[in-house]
Amino acid sequence: MEVITTIHDMKAYVKAVKQRGETICLVPTMGYLHKGHLDLMRVGKTLADHLVISIFVNPTQFGPTEDLAKYPRDFERDRQLSEGVGVECIFFPDAALMYPKGYATYVNVEGITNGLCGAARPTHFRGVTTVVAKLFNIIEPNVAVFGEKDYQQLTVIRRMVDDLNMSVKVIAHPTVREEDGLAMSSRNKYLSPEQRLNALVLSKALIMAKDLVKKGESDASKIRQMALDMISSTPDAAIDYVEIVHPDTLECMSHIDTKAVMALAVRVGNTRLIDNMELKR
Ligand code: PAJ
Repeated sequence: MEVITTIHDMKAYVKAVKQRGETICLVPTMGYLHKGHLDLMRVGKTLADHLVISIFVNPTQFGPTEDLAKYPRDFERDRQLSEGVGVECIFFPDAALMYPKGYATYVNVEGITNGLCGAARPTHFRGVTTVVAKLFNIIEPNVAVFGEKDYQQLTVIRRMVDDLNMSVKVIAHPTVREEDGLAMSSRNKYLSPEQRLNALVLSKALIMAKDLVKKGESDASKIRQMALDMISSTPDAAIDYVEIVHPDTLECMSHIDTKAVMALAVRVGNTRLIDNMELKR
C-alpha cells in the first residue's frame, strides 16, 4: 500500500492509472478510522479498479471554537486498518499543502447548507465542499463513497457534483451502528461510559419516530415533539436540533406523505453527536 503526501505525487499516480484506462474509487475521510469508514472502503473496493482513500483533518470545516486541535488522530493505526481492507493508496497531505499561503478559493453550496448543521456551524459546509472539490480535482475519481450518517453533507456534495458538472459518481453508504444502535463516529471516543449510555437516546428517538410513521402517524410536528421530549429528559443531553425534512431539499415538513428524514444533533457533555434515519410510511 502506498502513502502519498504530496499533490504532485498523487497526480502522477492518477495519471498512470488513467493512462492504463483504469478507474479510481475515492473514500474521503478525516482519519481515526472506525468500522463505518472501513465498510465504506470495502464497498469502494468493488466499485473501481483502484481504491484510494484520503486522510485529512480539514481545517476549513471547523469553526473557530470547534475541536480541530483535539480532533483524534492516529495515522499508524489508520494505515494498518486501511491495509487490512485492501486500500491501495492513502492520500495524506498536510494543511499547508492543501491551503498554502494566499489560498483564497472556496466552493459554497447555497440554501441547503443553511439549516440543520449549517445553522450552528455556518462555515462548515463551505469547508467540506471546498476540500472535497480539491480532492476530486487532485484524484479525479470515477466514483466516491460517502456515508448517510452525515446526511446533509451527502446531500450537499451531490448538489455540488450536479451543479458543477463534476464527472464523479457519488455512492451513498448506510449508517453503520454499534450493536446497541449508536452511530459509529470518531467523536464517540470523547464519551465517558455514562455519556456513552446517554448518547443512545439519539438512535432511540429516531427508532421511535420511524416506528410511529410505520404505524401510520403522519403529523411531523407531533413526532418531532415526542423526540424532543425524549431527548430533553435524558441527563447530560442538550438538543442542538431535531428536524423532519424532505430527503432531497432538506426543507422542514409538517406532513409525511411517503418519505422523510429525521435528522438530529445533540450535545452529550461537550461532544456534539449527529444521527438521522429515513421515515417511511
Ligand atoms: P469523516 O467524519 O472522517 O467521515 C468520512 C466518511 O465516512 C463520510 O462520508 C462519513 O459520512 C462516513 N461515515 C462516518 N461515520 C459513519 C458511519 N457510522 N456509518 C457510515 N458512514 C460513516 O465526513 C468527513 O470525514 C469529512 O467531512 C470529509 C467528507 C472527509 C471532508 O473533510
